[in-house]
Amino acid sequence: MSLSALTYIARRGMATKLTVKSLAIIGSGQMGAGIAQVAAATGHKVVLCDTAGDILEKAQAGIQKSLQRVVKKKYADDPEKGQEFITSTMANIETTTEPAKAVVTADLVVEAIVENLAVKQDLFRTLDKFAPAKTIFASNTSSLPITAIADSTKRQDKFAGLHFFNPVPVMKLVEVVRAPGTSQEVYECLMEFSKAIGKHPVTCKDTPGFLVNRLLVPYMLESVRLYERGDGSKEDIDVAMKLGAGYPMGPFELLDYVGLDTCKFIIDGWHELEPENPLFEPSQLLNELVAAGKHGKKTGEGFYKY
Ligand code: CAA
Repeated sequence: MSLSALTYIARRGMATKLTVKSLAIIGSGQMGAGIAQVAAATGHKVVLCDTAGDILEKAQAGIQKSLQRVVKKKYADDPEKGQEFITSTMANIETTTEPAKAVVTADLVVEAIVENLAVKQDLFRTLDKFAPAKTIFASNTSSLPITAIADSTKRQDKFAGLHFFNPVPVMKLVEVVRAPGTSQEVYECLMEFSKAIGKHPVTCKDTPGFLVNRLLVPYMLESVRLYERGDGSKEDIDVAMKLGAGYPMGPFELLDYVGLDTCKFIIDGWHELEPENPLFEPSQLLNELVAAGKHGKKTGEGFYKY
């Protein structure tokens, strides 16, 4: 091969190598704040965006609190260094209430807003107009099809799923969801980015629940059915899965932790997609608890009281 051909290939390789240094995170709830925290803690510049200043203040306070927990362990012998780590991490996080402003310099946008397809599509339709052409878009959706969200933009090749787990600072996994339109470069970039923020990425197709939730949600719903039939108390089922299967939380504790409204939303959506699938059968008891406003830990009551 001639030298000029080799130079061309090398340049092409260089041109397509994408890296993430700056992020815009839209949605500063538990997931968005957690993603902002781990990205900022690993030296990335983050713009965290939500609809109101007080929501963002609450998110920043939550990040501070979580960083203190991290520091207590990581810098147990050097509190001064721990404080420096908190200060430098917080300095990497800017906040804004304007999504269009948040994305203007972002290499990557991670969306972590409400699980509603139309709302997500609306958001990305707008962001598509303001973000530079190079910017990669990712959704942290737990259950909606990435392809359907990506279809609201003109950058399907730069669109993927990036699914984190709660609590984000602790859970090591990230699911990198490669939709049919996602380019190889974008997929590789997101795998690299996940490692750069200290996570372990796994590759998923754009199928309902990807890997984890496809197993976890039917398992939690089956636990509710077991309890509804009177085959075991919720306390015993929780203890059984912790002591018998080594799970850190039992299924009812986990339902309360994830949020019953979230679980209901996921199972209802899948049931609509595949009404014949018994694993996606909605639960009467779950519906009743959600209707009564008992959404789990965040509302003070779910299967348990907090
Ligand atoms: N920030 C920083 N550190 C945190 C933290 C947070 N938000 N939450 C917990 N930690 C740290 C604690 O400081 C503690 O650190 P040390 O070991 O150094 O003391 C450690 O994590 C363990 O925490 P705790 O001692 O408070 O409690 P625990 O041992 O019961 O662990 C847990 C808590 C990590 C949440 C554990 O119970 C667990 O792993 N539960 C299962 C969580 C799970 O399955 N998550 C996935 C849900 S599904 C999902 O998220 C996807 C979806 O789309 C619905």
